[in-house]
Amino acid sequence: MPMQMPSDADSSGRSLGQEELDLLTRVIESGTLNCTKGTVVREFEQEFASFMGLPFCRSTSSGTAAVHAAVAAIDPEPGDEIVTTPITDMGAIAAILYQAAVPVFADVDPLTYNVTADTLAAKITDRTRALVVTHLFGNPCDMAEVMELAAERDLPVIEDCAQAYCTRYRDQYVGTFGAVACFSLQQGKHITAGEGGMVLASDPELARRMTLFIDKAWGYGDPKPDHYFLAPNYRMTELQGAVALAQLRKLEGMVAQRIATADLLSAKIAGVPGVFAPVVTPDSVHTYWRYALRVDSETLPGGAVALGRRMQQAGVLCAPRYVQKPAFECQVLRDHRTFGDSEFPYRCAQRADAPPVVYDRADTPGSIEALEGVVVLGWNERYREEHVTFIADTIREVAGELAAGEG
Ligand SMILES: Cc1ncc(COP(=O)(O)O)c(C=O)c1O
Repeated sequence: MPMQMPSDADSSGRSLGQEELDLLTRVIESGTLNCTKGTVVREFEQEFASFMGLPFCRSTSSGTAAVHAAVAAIDPEPGDEIVTTPITDMGAIAAILYQAAVPVFADVDPLTYNVTADTLAAKITDRTRALVVTHLFGNPCDMAEVMELAAERDLPVIEDCAQAYCTRYRDQYVGTFGAVACFSLQQGKHITAGEGGMVLASDPELARRMTLFIDKAWGYGDPKPDHYFLAPNYRMTELQGAVALAQLRKLEGMVAQRIATADLLSAKIAGVPGVFAPVVTPDSVHTYWRYALRVDSETLPGGAVALGRRMQQAGVLCAPRYVQKPAFECQVLRDHRTFGDSEFPYRCAQRADAPPVVYDRADTPGSIEALEGVVVLGWNERYREEHVTFIADTIREVAGELAAGEG
């Protein structure tokens, strides 16, 4: 019987219970499911803001909506550029295009899978309006260098923390360095409400614009309210808020559990030829949304794909090569499939004199190397020593077979 691994797709790998039910009951009994009239989403926002030590938090209907609100708050002109990473969720990139800006891709460090100040700097032009840094898998970007660059170039930083709850860079939570932090509450994240997201900021003007953007830009409470600018309805429901609040109260314990089991796996696979534990940014805390196992294909013929496939066959939840290809090779970006046949905002009046945006994998060798050499292991707070032992034993066994040429 293969071991059943706890999965974040269902109750085996999630921590949803009486606390969530109690708050849901409160919401249902109140009869108010909408956050503009209810109290639970507001309570959740206040608790998360105070947890992060920031003055402002607003909930959204998804992480994609959170990134969209962040970009909208920065308010680029059509055709302006926003530099981001090619290894991320498409939602974070769609948000840029929906706000009429052009995503430009900085390379990642093939050891940390994160953008760096150097790779970002290489993509900054006079059209750049913001930098998005994604703390991939829960491992922080080098924020000292990133913030120094941002200050030099006078660019706001959006921190995408969808995978990085409680992640710390030098004793400070990621999400507290940049102008805006974005989180996701999608099913598989550190905490979940099925779907949902949050934006946080310190600057009152950005906070105000995000508050408006999430709710059709209607000026609630203003003397002469109006719909001030183009904006969708990205509100979170009270039902989501109830689950999110209960989850938030468990967050630190669940993160500690993820770190403990991830550290255990790193210890158990140390010395296995051809596989390497995640490289954690110095002076930082990685919170292991996923465990990225790096594979050396010279030592292990077939590399990440061969190792990952055999691990899957043995029952380990994992994704060889993670998202498979850099985001810019997806049709939407490669072929500029945006609004009708317009190719907007790649083609627009504001870019008439700009060189065309060319996406080329030769520009991002670190990202190609990173994707080719990674097996991303599913991870969650319900992993226990027995699961880690099973994963480590499987890695050791499969790596041994590959190294011996039993491919
Ligand atoms: C880094 C990153 N950014 C943004 C998102 C988008 O979040 P959502 O799926 O909640 O829209 C995700 C995940 O799904 C993500 O992993």
